[in-house]
Amino acid sequence: MTTNEMWGGRFAQGPAGIMEEINASIDFDRRLYAQDIAASKVHAAMLAERGIISQADAAAILGGLDKIKAEIDQGKFTFSRKLEDIHMNVEARLKDLIGEAAGRLHTARSRNDQVATDFRLWVRDAIDSLDARLVAFQTALVAKAGQNSATVMPGFTHLQTAQPITFGHHLLAYVEMASRDRARFASARACTNESPLGSAALAGTSFPLDRDATAHGLGFMRPMRNSLDGVSARDFALEFLSACAIMATHLSRLAEEIVLWSSPAFKFITLSDAFSTGSSIMPQKRNPDAAELVRAKCARVTGSLVTLLGVMKALPLAYAKDMQEDKEAVFDAADSVALALAAMTGMVEDLKVNEIAMRKAAGEGFSTATDIADWIVRVLKKPFREAHHITGRIVAMAEGRGCGLADLSLKELQSVEPGITADIQSVLSLDASVASRTSFGGTSPERVREQVRYWQEQLK
Ligand code: ARG
Repeated sequence: MTTNEMWGGRFAQGPAGIMEEINASIDFDRRLYAQDIAASKVHAAMLAERGIISQADAAAILGGLDKIKAEIDQGKFTFSRKLEDIHMNVEARLKDLIGEAAGRLHTARSRNDQVATDFRLWVRDAIDSLDARLVAFQTALVAKAGQNSATVMPGFTHLQTAQPITFGHHLLAYVEMASRDRARFASARACTNESPLGSAALAGTSFPLDRDATAHGLGFMRPMRNSLDGVSARDFALEFLSACAIMATHLSRLAEEIVLWSSPAFKFITLSDAFSTGSSIMPQKRNPDAAELVRAKCARVTGSLVTLLGVMKALPLAYAKDMQEDKEAVFDAADSVALALAAMTGMVEDLKVNEIAMRKAAGEGFSTATDIADWIVRVLKKPFREAHHITGRIVAMAEGRGCGLADLSLKELQSVEPGITADIQSVLSLDASVASRTSFGGTSPERVREQVRYWQEQLK
């Protein structure tokens, strides 16, 4: 076994096979190649600017790095586990291409600040692409909400019919969640967008670096102020994972509702063929597999957050190899939520609303009982608590008769509360019920249309 060509100076032997297997990260951190090369280019240019390496060496390094980037882009690069990670794979190839000058690139730098820099750049890119996907998701929800501002459905609490609401209102609740998800990603981005480059191994370096130049060259807000923090902080990744996990939780709730709504027992919606699957044995089945998978992806994204929290817990400063375990958790979470968002956007865009079934279900379960109580408070000036009792007796009467509240005659209503007049009929219909909920944030079609306009404006 030959010693490692990057750090083998003090070693007589190379690593055991199993050592190489546990140590190597190239199988996953190759995903950092574009960021790694971008950071190396900025570093090399700065070294030359500061007279730490010659302009000629810098030119050779930059040319070689561009060539390597093209090789990897085109799938022509051979990654080697022997070289552990993306940083050493790139540097070794650079040496093949330009010779000894390649060895000057690592001046005043360590893989510790290098990986922290690359990873921050990757997370920043991931946030930007997720934000675009979140906007597409919101846009699909707002469009569906606009078409369904007056579509009546049952609103549930405890999954028991509570009060009639509009489907548009229900969808807009998810637009609100998604907008807070975007705010969380924006906050994670701010935490991510500082440059560790120049922290070197942990203590900084004796070379006269220009850390502002490398920070700004990579689009970071500023260089990190403390080199120990620079190489050992992973809270940016934790914030990212936390935003992913919370968003995945939101998506899982909508996914679960889609599973319920599309079941034959509810029949509220029909998913398009494009987002349904059949059964190999039961010819009648249309399964909402994509929604179910989104529901389950949430567990795995939450798992990634818990993984990294566990890795970072009680880890002494500064860098420790434990932190190499950060990447798979982040990559997997980012991939999972990107896919989940795209699938949810497609399902929302394509789903057909079954207004008749929604309306029928909205009328069940005495859903306008609160409207009766409110009428008694408003017209008969009774305290709400008393109106609640009176209405309870009216509900019991309808239940006993096996009919809906709107089917009770005025006489029957008056047998419970003599003050009731024919005017009460006006609040018993589903449309009257939803139309009456005009408080800010309420479910009335009028309010929903306002909110749809608000979001259309925001998402322009
Ligand atoms: N592959 C390593 C990681 O992902 C890079 C940093 C290695 N640093 C070290 N001191 N061995 O964390």
